[in-house]
Amino acid sequence: EVAAGFLDPLSVPKWVAPLLVPPVMPTTGRTTLRGGKNADLYDIAVRQISQQVLPAPLPPTTLWAYGPTSARKGKAALLFHAPSATIEAKWQRPVRVTWRNELVDADGRFLPHLLPIDPTLHWANPPGGTTDRDSRPVFAATPEPYRGPVPVVTHVHGAVGVGDESDGYPEAWYLPDAVDLPAGHAHDGTWYAFFRSKAEKAHGLAWPTGGATFHYPDDQRASTLWYHDHTLGMTRANVYAGPAGFYLLRGGPNGDDAVIDSRAKLPAVLPGPAPQEADGFPSSKQYREIPLAIQDRSFLSDGSLFYPDSREYFDGTVGPYVPEGDVSPIWNPEFFGNTIMVNGHTWPTHTVEQRRYRFRLLNGCNARFLILDLGLPGAEAWQIGTEGGFLAAPVNLTAEHGGRLLLGPAERADVILDLTHVPVGSHIIRNLGPDEPFGGGQPDADFDVANPASTGQVLQLVVVPATSPDPTTPAAFLVLPAIDPLPTTAVRRLALVEEMSTAPELADDPPPIAALLGTVDATGTWSTYMWSDPITENPAVGAAETWEIFNSTADAHPIHVHEVVFQVENREPVAIDEATHYIAPAGGARPPEPGENGWKDTVIAYPGEVTRIRMRFDRGGQFVWHCHIVEHEDNEMMRPYRIGPEQP
Ligand code: C2O
Ligand code: CU
Repeated sequence: EVAAGFLDPLSVPKWVAPLLVPPVMPTTGRTTLRGGKNADLYDIAVRQISQQVLPAPLPPTTLWAYGPTSARKGKAALLFHAPSATIEAKWQRPVRVTWRNELVDADGRFLPHLLPIDPTLHWANPPGGTTDRDSRPVFAATPEPYRGPVPVVTHVHGAVGVGDESDGYPEAWYLPDAVDLPAGHAHDGTWYAFFRSKAEKAHGLAWPTGGATFHYPDDQRASTLWYHDHTLGMTRANVYAGPAGFYLLRGGPNGDDAVIDSRAKLPAVLPGPAPQEADGFPSSKQYREIPLAIQDRSFLSDGSLFYPDSREYFDGTVGPYVPEGDVSPIWNPEFFGNTIMVNGHTWPTHTVEQRRYRFRLLNGCNARFLILDLGLPGAEAWQIGTEGGFLAAPVNLTAEHGGRLLLGPAERADVILDLTHVPVGSHIIRNLGPDEPFGGGQPDADFDVANPASTGQVLQLVVVPATSPDPTTPAAFLVLPAIDPLPTTAVRRLALVEEMSTAPELADDPPPIAALLGTVDATGTWSTYMWSDPITENPAVGAAETWEIFNSTADAHPIHVHEVVFQVENREPVAIDEATHYIAPAGGARPPEPGENGWKDTVIAYPGEVTRIRMRFDRGGQFVWHCHIVEHEDNEMMRPYRIGPEQP
């Protein structure tokens, strides 16, 4: 059933590549800020690389990756990797990164995109590109594939209290500083100059050509953040091509040192990072803490990445190019890869001892919800943290969910996997999530699971006896820093809506043409807005609000709000009348899952429910909120929002 030209996932040998633990991103120095604080400096570029994602002798894959521009020739090959080296940040020590777009060849000419861009979406459209939906609501002809230089812009996902000039606004993209930028191509997106001048005023930062310098205060709780591309209308293709990495913020009053061992009533330090070699890849055996970025990918038989260039991939009834109508010709509502990659290698293997490990798990897939089965024989899995740091209390996943952990796209979980009593030998961490949109249900409910022979498998652990006593505290005895409930004063009602084609020739089974965000008024009627519509969410600086996210669609959406972390208040079933766009709570609210009792930045909004989240907006500026199914984000399921008064 795998078409010619495609790599059959069942032909890819598993458990060949050793798991790669991302090294630490080298700094380029430090600077003293006004006020006397020190900041760590980084200079990080996106470049095109070749990486052995599939095990040799299968061919290597051309990817894009972040890496340190300071890396010397030999080391660059190691340090430009997808996912990329980890930015190790310390609480209250700001980080300043100059992000560069170096998607150019050896002669300095721009490289085209590796993957198809749908120029009929609202996208980061460099002047000289094709027109988008704003000027062409009906797609009458085959669009010209975009062959110009690639715009990029980096967002640190989960960063709180960042100035909007440093958040990676989707329209603040920049092109490479290529020698052959076509006439009419500007270097940068519509908001670039505005944010550059803000950055100059706020921090004295000068942005380079083909880049931007962003400032991160690191004042928030210790947590597992990640950085990735965020370019308007092409995030799904840019991130799929590789640029992403972990940003771990450690220390402070809610960091590891604040965790108490309840047996001793003494501070106990959780297993931290092992000593690093200067730069390069230290042996992963040194680690007891392992960040795991799980991503699905598909390949052609020459090793190149596959991402669909037509709607044929979606259901065979529409496209490849619809001659008339309102169906975007290239965009697919969701993409599901047919292999699973962990830290940049398909189905890797890792040798572990009979002791406790701390996994920082990230679902880095475009659209796939993962349900990881951590229920290895004899193992105990405990969730201790989520996107915004430690939970209020450790959650025994083994006792409460049969060892299963649900992660929507962009969600993170901090997990202690206790392998002390796991029998020596190989064990496989499986994925029970579906190979299709997630309809909801708890991790222990029944639904169509991933293909057990391919996407149903994630990582092999080869368990060997411990070589020394394990000094760490069993998760059951961890007392985590307290979390106070956030009181809020205002309520904002918001809607998730899917838009279907109204083309008469597709009336029998209209395909989705966009995913949208909207508001719900006092009568329970929803209205939707496009990215380019005026701001509708405008909390005041210092306001604490409850956002009620009403899901009118048939699928779950992972909703992410930039700039803040939030608490999940509850979820409640809704009554829906699609004909009149009516949606209202129907009673029977349920509390958040135990694994959601902490600060989060991405929350699963289930179909047929309203999901309520609470957050405080401490710093003014223009940010975004969106669905993290990146195919949705790229096709209108993202809206700008503004904290505080209108920008000049
Ligand atoms: Cu992970 Cu707005 O992004
Ligand atoms: Cu969505």
